[in-house]
Amino acid sequence: MLFLFILSFWGPAVLTSGQVWPLYGTPRKTVNLSNRGHVFQEEGVWNYSTMLLREDMGVLILGARETIFALDLMNITHKKAMVKWAVTSDMQSTCSIKGKTLTECQNYIRILHKMPNGSMLVCGTNAFNPTCDLMSYTDGNLTLESKQQDGKGKCPFDPFQRYASELVDGELYSATSINFLGSEPVVMRSLNENVRTEFTTSWLSEPNFIAMKHMPEGHDNPDGDDDKIYLFFSETAVEYDAYNKLDVSRVARVCKGDVGGQRTLQKKWTSFLKTRLDCPVPQTRLPLLIQDVFLFCPDTWKTCMFYGVFTPQTNMPEYSAVCAYKIQDIREVFSEGKFKTLYRDSSITKWVTFNGDVPDPRPGACINKDARQKGYNRSLDLPDKTLQFIRERPLMDQAVKQSSQQPLVVKKGAAFTRIVVANTIGLNGSSHQVMFIGTASGSVLKAVNYDGQMVIIEEVQLFKQSEPVKILQLSITLGQLYVGSEVATVQMPLSTCEHYNSCVDCVLARDPYCGWNLISDSCIAINNIPQDTHSEVVQNLTHGNVGRCPAVENIMTNKTFYPGNVVRLQCLPGSNLAQVQWSVNNHITAKSNKYQIYNNSLFILNAANSDAGLYTCTSIESSNVIQNVTYNLRLENIMDQNSVLPQVQEQQNTLLALTALVIILTLILLALVVWNFYKGHFAVPRCFGKAEERPQSVSGCQEPLQIGAKNTAGPMEFNRNNNHNRLSGLPDTANQHNGDKVF
Ligand SMILES: *[C@@H]1O[C@H](CO)[C@@H](O)[C@H](O)[C@H]1NC(C)=O
Ligand SMILES: *[C@@H]1O[C@H](CO)[C@@H](O)[C@H](O)[C@H]1NC(C)=O
Ligand SMILES: *[C@@H]1O[C@H](CO)[C@@H](O)[C@H](O)[C@H]1NC(C)=O
Ligand SMILES: *[C@@H]1O[C@H](CO)[C@@H](O)[C@H](O)[C@H]1NC(C)=O
Ligand SMILES: *[C@@H]1O[C@H](CO)[C@@H](O)[C@H](O)[C@H]1NC(C)=O
Ligand SMILES: *[C@@H]1O[C@H](CO)[C@@H](O)[C@H](O)[C@H]1NC(C)=O
Ligand SMILES: *[C@@H]1O[C@H](CO)[C@@H](O)[C@H](O)[C@H]1NC(C)=O
Ligand SMILES: *[C@@H]1O[C@H](CO)[C@@H](O)[C@H](O)[C@H]1NC(C)=O
Ligand SMILES: *[C@@H]1O[C@H](CO)[C@@H](O)[C@H](O)[C@H]1NC(C)=O
Ligand SMILES: *[C@@H]1O[C@H](CO)[C@@H](O)[C@H](O)[C@H]1NC(C)=O
Ligand SMILES: *[C@@H]1O[C@H](CO)[C@@H](O)[C@H](O)[C@H]1NC(C)=O
Repeated sequence: MLFLFILSFWGPAVLTSGQVWPLYGTPRKTVNLSNRGHVFQEEGVWNYSTMLLREDMGVLILGARETIFALDLMNITHKKAMVKWAVTSDMQSTCSIKGKTLTECQNYIRILHKMPNGSMLVCGTNAFNPTCDLMSYTDGNLTLESKQQDGKGKCPFDPFQRYASELVDGELYSATSINFLGSEPVVMRSLNENVRTEFTTSWLSEPNFIAMKHMPEGHDNPDGDDDKIYLFFSETAVEYDAYNKLDVSRVARVCKGDVGGQRTLQKKWTSFLKTRLDCPVPQTRLPLLIQDVFLFCPDTWKTCMFYGVFTPQTNMPEYSAVCAYKIQDIREVFSEGKFKTLYRDSSITKWVTFNGDVPDPRPGACINKDARQKGYNRSLDLPDKTLQFIRERPLMDQAVKQSSQQPLVVKKGAAFTRIVVANTIGLNGSSHQVMFIGTASGSVLKAVNYDGQMVIIEEVQLFKQSEPVKILQLSITLGQLYVGSEVATVQMPLSTCEHYNSCVDCVLARDPYCGWNLISDSCIAINNIPQDTHSEVVQNLTHGNVGRCPAVENIMTNKTFYPGNVVRLQCLPGSNLAQVQWSVNNHITAKSNKYQIYNNSLFILNAANSDAGLYTCTSIESSNVIQNVTYNLRLENIMDQNSVLPQVQEQQNTLLALTALVIILTLILLALVVWNFYKGHFAVPRCFGKAEERPQSVSGCQEPLQIGAKNTAGPMEFNRNNNHNRLSGLPDTANQHNGDKVF
């Protein structure tokens, strides 16, 4: 009875939860890395959060705390070289004296870039004394060249602060704080000609720098336009009237050829323009904030898209999203849009649209053919009027809108942290962008948006739930993904088609990398398969149409039971999107006094001899049967087990007696509580205390506590506690994590 109560209480909630709203954004499969990838972790080294792919050298340069590694790109478990860059004890004590913790006063490698001559620029926080050096990888040795230079403004002081950098034509562009306190944000270019931002809140207002990307817009440009460096960040909004601090996402850019002004804006950017970046998600009121950006260019720069991941600014468990932006849309806002200006009145100051005359040359524009014709060859030649305008008004009026009507991905749950995007060609020749999204719970999501329809193919759990993904790198040529967290680094392939175990599973996955080969009867990678075999391969990405697939095989399992027991038949749906349906001797079962379905498992209560028969668990995903598992349930042959049976019966009787006792004691306790309340004194807390003192005792107070515990643990606990799993021949729970198999 107690058991029934628990089932009916929990059962319906569990049964229906899969059918409503949370299904949206549910990954089709949840898997772990198991044998799909390689892991790298060095004893005593942490914070694997900076990476540089050196495909030319076949190594992944990995920056961690006080250490830099060169790992084999094909198998990162294979460490080819490493070099230590630790802080000296002097520096550590100086850092500690200034009030920083021991963890902070270490050297966190933050910047790794390839120089034009093949050597590498590496910068570290170096106990709050940012420092850069050159590094080479030759003859299997990783060597720091001890050509140390000041890293202020290039690399953050504080290892916990976000930063961004990009190396273009041997010059470093960086966005970080330039002082110890982390209060002076700067976007600058260094190495040869230093140029930076003004220290005013209209330029940067408590920014959180995210990413920097070079865009070769000057290449073959008929307008003689310049290359640009785009910066993504979030900052406190100046343009809203809000009582509370409100943050917004931004995109900003500078021109590569900008060397600052002559008198106005000397050694400052003359081309720093910024605007708001929108990624609207229904149900969220405050703007989402950008966390990472991936630059995806299928062809020339004109086709480039920025993919950004966004999370809410309050720490409520809310929706994360992916939005993509066309480079052309961003360019349009900067080159043609209106400016915002600060309106000052005796009582208010407010940022409003600037509707006056914009000086010529246009403020913030790069030097192009048109400007050169007017005699402005360099930013140094620009007139004061233009420079003064831009110094006061770096903010554009219009925001950049995402390229699609809706965000490409929206998901509730663990926040998105990082993103990379890979292009792949489907069987029919159409191209698809596959998004790999790192999460704060240590997993990577693989998602595709098919004409506005979001599909999360799978979620691969790489690290512990408490270890956020801190960096994602993609090697298109090798088809590998490199993922870093504070505790380890993982390499995994972009696809593992062989893990789809049936045609229906393979096709329903809608994984553009995979198709089902009807001849070899296997899920195969479709890249590079010969054209004349295409007709043998099934792939239907837009609909997941499995019409050409053979029906799934029925898996038969034998199982025995003892009369009077609760028999549990387990069923793993094989997909998070599937619904499970149980049938007994080919009749679909409904929940009844006899059968209970909890978490997809069928429970046969008080099993009788007549319950022997065929029990089939059918997993149905978008109206397709993806899996049929039939248990042939038979009475245990008592003759063979004569020594076991009496014991079972005895346990059964004990259980019944205990259950009866529990119920009686519950009723007594309830009566007592009611009586006590009625009389106005509280006997309950005293009772609980007593139970804690003597946990083993069978007192009138303890029993209800046990009921409560069983109630929250659910029927699984109940079953296990009484050791019935083994006796009724139930499968053990060891393989319950395996989403692909049934046992
Ligand atoms: C480095 O890793 C350790 C261990 O996970 C973590 O406690 C620490 O916060 C990390 N440091 C930074 C700067 O992220
Ligand atoms: C990867 O490298 C490690 C360490 O060198 C080695 O033990 C392992 O066998 C390699 N794995 C594969 C699949 O090559
Ligand atoms: C590469 O270039 C950097 C800066 O331009 C220079 O300092 C370094 O010595 C060069 N390295 C090699 C190996 O030529
Ligand atoms: C690389 O390191 C090895 C072992 O430390 C050393 O024998 C070798 O001379 C080094 N090679 C170079 C080019 O420095
Ligand atoms: C700009 O360059 C052109 C041709 O190179 C030159 O004739 C002109 O004098 C330059 N103008 C300025 C202001 O330097
Ligand atoms: C996929 O299925 C849809 C609808 O079921 C069908 O119209 C379409 O032709 C199929 N596409 C391919 C490539 O088989
Ligand atoms: C290929 O299939 C996709 C969907 O799977 C469809 O959108 C596209 O039009 C097809 N392309 C060609 C060239 O048939
Ligand atoms: C189930 O039992 C039948 C008859 O005893 C036997 O032929 C069959 O091989 C068994 N199947 C499995 C999967 O063990
Ligand atoms: C799965 O099992 C159910 C119930 O026994 C049956 O009706 C159905 O035909 C089976 N489907 C397949 C594809 O085997
Ligand atoms: C449901 O069952 C699966 C596998 O048997 C298990 O991993 C999961 O924790 C169960 N969920 C609940 C809510 O009991
Ligand atoms: C990963 O899944 C496999 C089965 O797919 C399981 O055997 C293994 O224990 C799991 N590993 C972890 C770390 O959970």
